[in-house]
Amino acid sequence: MFQIGHVDADKIAEKYGTPLYVYDEEILREKLADYRRFFRSDCFDTGVIYASKAFCCKEMIRLVNEYGLYLDVVSAGELYTAHQAGYDCRNIFFHGNNKNRRELQMAAELGVGTIVVDNIQEAYLLKEVLKDTDHNVHALVRVNPCIEAHTHEYVVTADSDSKFGISTARENELTETIKLLADDSHISFDGLHSHIGSQIFEMQAYIEEIRTLFALAEKLRDQYGICIDTLDLGGGFPAKYTEHDEPLPTEEICRILLKACAEEKQNFPYIQRILIEPGRSITAEAGYTLYTAGFTRETENRHYVFIDGGMSDNIRPALYQAEYEALAAGKENEEKTIEYTIAGKCCESGDILISSVRLPHISEGDLIAVKSTGAYGYSMASRYNKLPVPGVVFAAEGKTREVVRRETLEDLTAKEI
Ligand code: LLP
Repeated sequence: MFQIGHVDADKIAEKYGTPLYVYDEEILREKLADYRRFFRSDCFDTGVIYASKAFCCKEMIRLVNEYGLYLDVVSAGELYTAHQAGYDCRNIFFHGNNKNRRELQMAAELGVGTIVVDNIQEAYLLKEVLKDTDHNVHALVRVNPCIEAHTHEYVVTADSDSKFGISTARENELTETIKLLADDSHISFDGLHSHIGSQIFEMQAYIEEIRTLFALAEKLRDQYGICIDTLDLGGGFPAKYTEHDEPLPTEEICRILLKACAEEKQNFPYIQRILIEPGRSITAEAGYTLYTAGFTRETENRHYVFIDGGMSDNIRPALYQAEYEALAAGKENEEKTIEYTIAGKCCESGDILISSVRLPHISEGDLIAVKSTGAYGYSMASRYNKLPVPGVVFAAEGKTREVVRRETLEDLTAKEI
């Protein structure tokens, strides 16, 4: 029987029901430990910031804390979750292109360490929020280095028309924003942030990003007298979703990034600290979604098998044409004779999880496991058609524990008046 964390998948499904998000906790721990271990350098202080948007719940944040990683949040909700998990807010980096006054106030009150300022209006708002308080924060400014990374257009973040960050081409706006922050007694202005996209296999894009950021840091110093010591390179390191994906090992990614930074440092020695923000590369491969097969349908060109979840628990195929692999748990030894289309139960033709996957003959009640769903599955789940959001279970060393309770029908109307 197919196992997750050395627990039989059918036992997990029996105990917690389906659909269900299941994480192999050993893989999560390994990925966290790898980033922590390999993102180290003799030339820089280094820090790894877990991008919590990939998978955010209290238990995940406790794990992140256990491995000594910093945390990226982008909303009051993620910040609240981190605080509830007992995470030290000084280690939080607060991102987002449209933080509101309430969110900035909350950040200041909880003692969030660093605000990543996206635009000049946010710089004004942050100053206003901190004025007349005794709260102090560190700040980075998000720049858009206008680098072309080859990935899906919905997750590209650094083309010149991107909604994120101040473009390197808009020098006045950039320097004005930085000066506003650097001149404020409540703010320590540390440096620059950029994030060039997601699921980026081509390390050359990061090397270009590094060169652009170092060149910008040099220009800020030489032409504007602005001294910075920190560069945050963002995340976007790839995960293996299918056999066609061949991401570099974490060790190699870290080595390439730090080598490129060290080379740039020879020319511009003032940068002391390098940060990165992985999300999916930590959580994706650790996660599986377990479904129970229901009815089937034969059409002219397809053998459909319907599952008890769908686009409500995994929007990525519909939104990004994301591809996944699946297996029939318990039928590992049977010949894969049929090319199935796995479709969900939502009222939407686009609710197709996997367009084509070879599986043994599937009968009603069979258990289907979709692999590598650990990033942006639970965190982008919806209640479309009023399907309750599945629970989350961690499995390790032959044991399981529920870390997010499955929603009930009562939960669905609990807030309705
Ligand atoms: N840092 C910043 C500022 C980001 O905006 C993101 C992702 C990350 C780090 C982490 O990126 P990762 O290592 O996870 O690729 N929902 C989409 C992905 C959107 C990513 C948004 N920002 C998906 O399911 O592929």
